[in-house]
Amino acid sequence: KFEKIWLIFGFGALLVFLTVIGVSAFYLGNQPPSCLATIDPEKVDTTAPFDKPGLKKVEGKEWDYELVFVASAFSYSPARVEVPLGAKVKVIATSKDVMHGFQAAGTNVNMMLEPGYISEVVTTFKNPGEFLIVCNEYCGVGHHMMHSMIEVV
Ligand code: CUA
Repeated sequence: KFEKIWLIFGFGALLVFLTVIGVSAFYLGNQPPSCLATIDPEKVDTTAPFDKPGLKKVEGKEWDYELVFVASAFSYSPARVEVPLGAKVKVIATSKDVMHGFQAAGTNVNMMLEPGYISEVVTTFKNPGEFLIVCNEYCGVGHHMMHSMIEVV
């Protein structure tokens, strides 16, 4: 008798888990990060949008601005950029050489920049101030000097 109850409970729990996974995957659109756009690391300087790093206003998208960064040993381009307070910004970045990190301290922006791939994140800068961007992947002797600054005004 008890076996039967436990069996039903077991199958019931399994069904609940599968339903939760199914709903989150297909209805909410939760997917593991994949299908990153690719780029030839040798041609970063001549490929849009990386030929003109910096902040750009965009129309007709879910975000108001696109902020493009190029990382290379041991700096970011641009080295400093101003972003309007409250702007919804898509940060787009790539690396020209080795793997670099891209973490904007005090924000939820934290990406890995891999040569050959384009990393993107959409964020809203809700607080004014200076937000230091640091490299959090060890990339060589100049790793600790690699930084940029987002100034939200
Ligand atoms: Cu770039 Cu560490």
